[in-house]
Amino acid sequence: MRKKDVIVALDFPGKGEALGFLDGFPDGERPFVKVGMELFYAAGPDMVRLLKDRGHRVFLDLKLHDIPTTVRRTMKVLSSLGADMVNLHAAGGSAMMRAALEGLGEVEGRPLVIAVTQLTSTDAQTLRQELLIETPMAEAVRSYAQNAARCGLDGVVCSPLEAAAIHAQCGEDFLTVTPGIRFAEGEAGDQKRILTPEQAAQAGCDFIVVGRPITRAANPLDAYRRCVREFGGTP
Ligand code: C5P
Repeated sequence: MRKKDVIVALDFPGKGEALGFLDGFPDGERPFVKVGMELFYAAGPDMVRLLKDRGHRVFLDLKLHDIPTTVRRTMKVLSSLGADMVNLHAAGGSAMMRAALEGLGEVEGRPLVIAVTQLTSTDAQTLRQELLIETPMAEAVRSYAQNAARCGLDGVVCSPLEAAAIHAQCGEDFLTVTPGIRFAEGEAGDQKRILTPEQAAQAGCDFIVVGRPITRAANPLDAYRRCVREFGGTP
């Protein structure tokens, strides 16, 4: 799979809205897309199969976090959908992460498995006061990433601000998939740790996940192409 790619977050309430958005893209341009909980729970597993049939690569962002047996069995089901990338919460611990890999099987062509470190909407105050984690954010994220790497996962979801430190700790091949991307003049919304696509590229991010700056743009196709251009990929 090509590194340095823009993943468009299909945060839509249903299949009709998602396909309506994708209809704005020409035939030869099939962005890598992310199906999150909203769309998956509304449109079901067939949405993933449909997107694959239409030639999209799919990041299935369901952020599993449960007991190891449940995660192993669920990953086995997800592996049959043809997703290119799936994820889970590193906070579920090593046993859960290893069980996820077991469920996906050791076969060639399994989806990439990515661990969420800390949500990019979580700030230092929330970490300390609500999650009761005294370790500073950067150190906590690095430690979660190291744990995921030791378990054999392919990378982490993290803030673009953390990508360089994670590569330094876990190696250049360990993938950093980074939401929290905004154009220079854009609104942050609920994201708290953000960078522009260009800054994300400089920080060494492998994939950027971009939702509202593209899906809510006056011209989504232009916004997508701008994102790809600034991040340094080819549409
Ligand atoms: O609209 P926006 O660009 O903020 O969308 C970011 C996407 O990335 C959303 O679908 C959100 O659920 C997802 N995400 C995130 N932070 C994480 C993991 C996933 O923002 N740590």
